Amino acid sequence: MRWGVILLLTSLFFLISLRSKMESEKLEFVIPDNFPKSVYDFGNNPLTEEGFQLGRNLFYDPILSRDSTISCASCHLQFTGFAHVDHEVSHGIDGRKGTRNVPALINLAWNKFFHWDGGVNNLEVQGINPVTHPKEMDNTLEEVIFRLKNSNKYQQLFTAAYGDDEVSTSRIFKAITQFVVSLVSSNSKYDQIMRKEQGINFTAQEQNGYKLFKKQCASCHTEPLFTNDFFASNGLSLDSNFLDYGRYGITQNSEDKYLFKIPTLRNIEYTYPYMHDGRFSTLKEVLNFYNGLNHDLEYLSKTLKKPMKMTDNEIKDLLSFLLTLTDKTFLFDQRFLYPK
Ligand code: HEC
Ligand code: HEC
Repeated sequence: MRWGVILLLTSLFFLISLRSKMESEKLEFVIPDNFPKSVYDFGNNPLTEEGFQLGRNLFYDPILSRDSTISCASCHLQFTGFAHVDHEVSHGIDGRKGTRNVPALINLAWNKFFHWDGGVNNLEVQGINPVTHPKEMDNTLEEVIFRLKNSNKYQQLFTAAYGDDEVSTSRIFKAITQFVVSLVSSNSKYDQIMRKEQGINFTAQEQNGYKLFKKQCASCHTEPLFTNDFFASNGLSLDSNFLDYGRYGITQNSEDKYLFKIPTLRNIEYTYPYMHDGRFSTLKEVLNFYNGLNHDLEYLSKTLKKPMKMTDNEIKDLLSFLLTLTDKTFLFDQRFLYPK
C-alpha cells in the first residue's frame, strides 16, 4: 500500500515536471508607467522566455549570413542602442557598403513603420530583408532553414520555444521579433524624473534644455518615445551619393519627397553618426544644423519654418537635456547581451 502511494506520487511529479518542460514560460510585456500602450500585436506571437532566447540566439548568430560572418548584431550593437557607430552607412558581407545609416533598435513595439522610408510595416517580415539583402547577409531563406534544421543547438532551441523542432521562416522571424520588441529603454534620467522617482531632478541647465526641446523639437520627437512614428523633412539637403528621397521611394507621391522616418532620440548620446546617411558625427553639429536651417527650403516641414535663433548657451542647455535620455540600464542589460 505504502509503495503504491509513493509510486503514484513519483509518477505524478514526473508528469508535472514533464508538462512544465513542454510548455514554454509565458512572459508579460511590461509597459513602463510613463509610456502609452504598445502597438505590436502580441496575439499572433505570444512572448515566451524560450521564444525570446531563441530570437536572441538567432540575432547574435552569423549562421544567418551566406559566409557565416555577419549577424544582426554586427550592425546593431547593444552598447550603442543597437545602432552602429563606426560607419556612416552600413557595412555588410564582404565589406559591401549599404546606402543608409544603421538605425537604433529601441522601443520598436510602439512603432508602426520601420526603415528610414517606412518601407516595412511588419516587424515579423523585417528580418527577411537583411538576411537576403546582397549587401547585408546575402543568404537565401532555404539555406538558413537547412542550416538551422541540421544544428543540434537549434533543434533544442526550436523545441523549447515551439514544442517541436520544425524550422520555418515564420518561426525564425517570430522568434527574432520577440527579441527585438523586448528592447525597451525606459530608465533614463528623463524617465525617472517623469515617474517622480525620489531624489532625481533635472539640473537648471537640463530644465532649460527641456523647455527648449518642448518648444522646438517635441512636435516630431514626441515624448515619451521621442518620435511620433511618422515622416517629416527636417531640411537635410539631398545626399549627393545616394540621391535618397526617403518616403517618396515607397509611395512615389511627390509630396513625400525628402521625408524620412522621425527617429527616436532615446540614447542619442551613443547612436551616432546621425541622420539616414550618417552625415553628422556629433550632437553639436546636429543642433547647429537645426539652428541654422534655411527656412526658404520648399520641402522643409512647416513646424521647422520658424527660425529657432538659439544662442550658444541655449544650444548647450538643449544638449544637456538630450543627454538625460541615456539609459545605462538598457545599454548594459544582461538579457540583451550575446547569449552564453
Ligand atoms: C549590414 C548591416 C545590417 C545587418 C546585418 C542587419 N541590419 Fe537591421 N538595419 C540596417 C540598416 C541600414 C537599416 C535601415 C534600413 C533602411 O532604412 O532602409 C536597418 C533597419 C532595421 C530595423 C528597423 C528599425 C527602424 O527603426 O526602422 C530592424 C528592426 C532591424 N534592422 C533588425 C535587424 C535584424 C533582426 C537583423 C538580423 C536578421 C538585422 N537588422 C541585420 C543594417 C543592418
Ligand atoms: C518637423 C519634424 C522635426 C522636428 C521639429 C525636429 N526633428 Fe529631428 N529629425 C526629424 C527627422 C525626419 C529626422 C531624420 C532625418 C533624416 O535622417 O533624413 C530627424 C533626425 C534627428 C536626429 C538624428 C537622429 C538619428 O538617430 O540619426 C537628431 C539628433 C534630431 N533629429 C534632433 C532634433 C532636435 C534636437 C530638434 C529640435 C531642435 C529636432 N530634432 C526637431 C524631424 C524633426
